[in-house]
Amino acid sequence: MRTQVAIVGAGPAGSLLSLLLRRHGIESVVVERQTKEYVLGRIRAGVLEWTTVELLRAAGLADRLDAEGHVHDSVKIGWRGEEILSIDFQRLTGKPMMSYGQTMIQEDLYLAAEAEGANIVFGASDVEIHDVTTDQPWVRFTADGEQVRLDCDYVAGCDGYHGVSRATIPADAKTEYEKAYPFGWLGILSETPPLPHLIYANHERGFALCSQRNPMLSRYYVQCPLDDTVDDWSDDRFWTELLARLPVSEGEQLVTGPSIEKSIAPLRSYVCEPMSHGRLFLAGDAAHIVPPTGAKGLNLAVSDVHYLSEALAAHYAGDSAPLAAYSATALHRVWSSVRFSWWMTTLLHRFPDQTVFDQRIQEEDLTHLAASEASQTNVAEQYVGLDL
Ligand code: APR
Ligand code: PHB
Repeated sequence: MRTQVAIVGAGPAGSLLSLLLRRHGIESVVVERQTKEYVLGRIRAGVLEWTTVELLRAAGLADRLDAEGHVHDSVKIGWRGEEILSIDFQRLTGKPMMSYGQTMIQEDLYLAAEAEGANIVFGASDVEIHDVTTDQPWVRFTADGEQVRLDCDYVAGCDGYHGVSRATIPADAKTEYEKAYPFGWLGILSETPPLPHLIYANHERGFALCSQRNPMLSRYYVQCPLDDTVDDWSDDRFWTELLARLPVSEGEQLVTGPSIEKSIAPLRSYVCEPMSHGRLFLAGDAAHIVPPTGAKGLNLAVSDVHYLSEALAAHYAGDSAPLAAYSATALHRVWSSVRFSWWMTTLLHRFPDQTVFDQRIQEEDLTHLAASEASQTNVAEQYVGLDL
């Protein structure tokens, strides 16, 4: 089998890349380890930068997003139990944000891929990437019990943090930057009306976040110890803890109900540099991870594949400079989001070794943020994301 671009992984990065390449007349084959149902069952974050929305619109992939997404102009931050500050990013930056679950984006991408006849091989096992430092790279995988050799011009590694692509790059050809945080997020989905806005809370009992998917689907998180399991968290315990961490006026509006999904995720920052090796290009979680506090993970996956698809299109049209610059171009945006997500995480969580001094510094940061429009503009600019 032969194609122009072999894409490993059909999460948001790989499936969107395949569709964007098609817009440029470039062929690809996507090989995904899991089944389609498994990928669609993963519950992830759901806040889109306007740049992401516009990119999906330009690619003709935003019909449902425009019909069902919830545009919001601001977020709230609660602290000290009762204080609330609001960051009105629409007023401060001219850009809103959109709440729309990653699960729905994934569905939209698969529907478009099916309608357009894009080639996605699900259930591909034993994926191996070969000869990326030659001009004839190839990928081997097993599908339906048969071994397949896929020859290609380029390989896009879109296989997430635990994939094979990054591991293909020799240790002496990459530098890895990593920070693990000493807590996780327990997240639930419930079929209840959400609060009218996103609210992040810094509380002495730990961080909390209220978010939304649609008018009858809410997403909530509380910071929890890394060794907790979902069995430690009955729905009652979750709601009691969430209420305790929210400002009273917000808690009063909270509608509780049974959870329909509950999971715990660790928080980590990670970057691999460069994001390319020979003819292998990494995109999305394969190259970087951010803690969810800044709502950046999916947006970065989208900007990476935007840069990569444009660079490959330019290359096939005779200009190879953007492809040579792909890693540097993508990393600029990556580090901006990595820094912001680290900062939001540091500002809003209780760290196990936090002293009263550290706590006063956090409070001072929040007090300043509440009082200073310049400071709010700075945060708003980073929250809505850099232009592409
Ligand atoms: N072979 C083939 N496919 C693989 C392999 C492999 N060896 N390893 C992993 N995969 C697949 C996974 O099953 C998954 O479907 O690659 C896909 C990677 O998808 P994601 O982990 O969702 O990563 P990405 O597409 O970069 O999207 C990033 O997802 O994790 C969130 O917060 C993150 O929103 C961000 C987005
Ligand atoms: C979510 O809706 O899941 C969400 C929102 C904001 C975040 C993280 C996750 O910062």
